[in-house]
Amino acid sequence: MPTAERASTPRRYLMCPPTYYRVTYSINPWMDPGKPVDLRLALTQWEELRDRYRSLGHTVEELVPRPDLPDMVFAANGATVVDGRVLGARFAHPERRAEADAHVAWFRSHGYADVREPTHINEGEGDFAVTASWILAGRGFRSSPLSHPEAQEFFGRPVIGLDLVDPRYYHLDTALCVLDDTADEVMYYPGAFSPGSRAVLERLFPDALIATADDAAALGLNAVSDGHHVLLPQAAVGLFGPLRERGFEPIGMDLGELLKGGGSVKCCTQELR
Ligand code: ARG
Repeated sequence: MPTAERASTPRRYLMCPPTYYRVTYSINPWMDPGKPVDLRLALTQWEELRDRYRSLGHTVEELVPRPDLPDMVFAANGATVVDGRVLGARFAHPERRAEADAHVAWFRSHGYADVREPTHINEGEGDFAVTASWILAGRGFRSSPLSHPEAQEFFGRPVIGLDLVDPRYYHLDTALCVLDDTADEVMYYPGAFSPGSRAVLERLFPDALIATADDAAALGLNAVSDGHHVLLPQAAVGLFGPLRERGFEPIGMDLGELLKGGGSVKCCTQELR
């Protein structure tokens, strides 16, 4: 239930600077290789996000970017970490495939003992969202439906499959955000989901914050919550009021250059749970 008492808990995030970020191929409808990217501005926007996390008391670890992997800035896609256990990614598109190895290598060299390289395609937290009771799992564009039982078996948490039907919302984290991971509270855009998945979401989250088409199109759901602060694209203006009414503190971020790659706040942020 919505409540006015919100407390943030300290988080650990894994991010990767957009040193070699560029849009030279198109694997989602947001990417237009004909549109120039301002790399300096992308870097400034990314640093503002990283520094904001740190000023809120969170820890940010940094992956070393690779020149041959322009999408590596979207670190959320590289793995999923729950209870310290790491399920690596397996990317749908060849352009991003080698990112999975970079993530696995990072976890292995940072003391993570339980690192699993998956059999089936999954794009990490792009398609897996962790609530108190479940792991919500997107499918339809990137992650294979077969990755869902694989994640369930590995994490020992119930996985709820959700069908994505709108190519603009090709990852679950472009259409749904976990606001409170101790209480199964989420916000989402119903139009991104099949009718059956919408019914599942209504059943599991009757009190969810429902986003408008405009806020979803600003990638407003590509947000990160620490239980109190919600960092989200600043253009998603319609979400600020409803978040405040629920006791959250929305913090608008400008990640306009990253949006040209089809990602924003959440895509740049993998949570190390
Ligand atoms: N260009 C990247 C891709 O299409 C963007 C990934 C965005 N990340 C996310 N978590 N939705 O794969």
